[in-house]
Amino acid sequence: MGYSFTMSAKPKKTPADTPTSSAVMTVPRFAAAKASGTKLSVLTAYDFSWAGIFDAAGVDALLVGDSVAMVVQGHATTLPVTLDEIIYHAKLVVRGTRRALVIVDMPFMSYQVSPTEAVRNAGRILKESGASAVKVEGGQAQADTIRALTVAGIPVMAHEGMKPQSVRSLGGMGKIQRDEETLIVDARAAEQAGAFSIVLELIPQAVAARITSELSIPTIGIGAGPACDGQVLVGYDMLGVTDFHPRFLKRFANLREEAIRAATQYTSEVRNGSYPGPEHSHD
Ligand code: KIV
Repeated sequence: MGYSFTMSAKPKKTPADTPTSSAVMTVPRFAAAKASGTKLSVLTAYDFSWAGIFDAAGVDALLVGDSVAMVVQGHATTLPVTLDEIIYHAKLVVRGTRRALVIVDMPFMSYQVSPTEAVRNAGRILKESGASAVKVEGGQAQADTIRALTVAGIPVMAHEGMKPQSVRSLGGMGKIQRDEETLIVDARAAEQAGAFSIVLELIPQAVAARITSELSIPTIGIGAGPACDGQVLVGYDMLGVTDFHPRFLKRFANLREEAIRAATQYTSEVRNGSYPGPEHSHD
């Protein structure tokens, strides 16, 4: 079940560029949400089951984030995830998605070498997974790459502020570049190069508000305050699966506690022989 053309049920006919809660989300509809004042909800997803749950909840876009390296693969940074691995996760997410826009992070070193290599790798992501767009970290420094991808018909979401793929040069996760003018110049450069949206991560709320009012593309915040046009969180953080407590994170569930409780009860029932019982058995 792909998010668009391969769906078995026909998507509702909606005039292009009109965001609604039931129509299949496309890049033009996502971008047009800003003009109509509709806030955009984005979550990361890495597999079929969670993609299906978030999609059923009406989340507008699912980001196959390179955060998969940390929250699924157990690495300390996002750097190790490979192009083949992100394509694998993107396929799982697309299979679980009927309506949401699926955006895929380009892994570290899959786009930084040259625009040509970026187009080749992003092309693989879209062709092999069925996703609709890619995300790259950077503004001015990636403008040629964003332009080349856009010209090739590959929609690009940009990412400014805290750029996890620059962890080695920043000196640690969470270290941010706070210079207001540079952030604004970077955001403008991404828009001018053709990005359809931009993630603003861990930047002061006043700067995010200024970027949001200056740009015509939607800003999607994470730790960037309430003025952004939308919000993104790592799905496992929002659900309380991970043990991560930054100020910007609101946990909407505590699934870690609930999962530990369930697994503890299961273990105890298996050990004391109360599960499985006759009602769980076949004659
Ligand atoms: O990889 C990721 O999860 C992200 C979001 C935090 C924006 O880039």
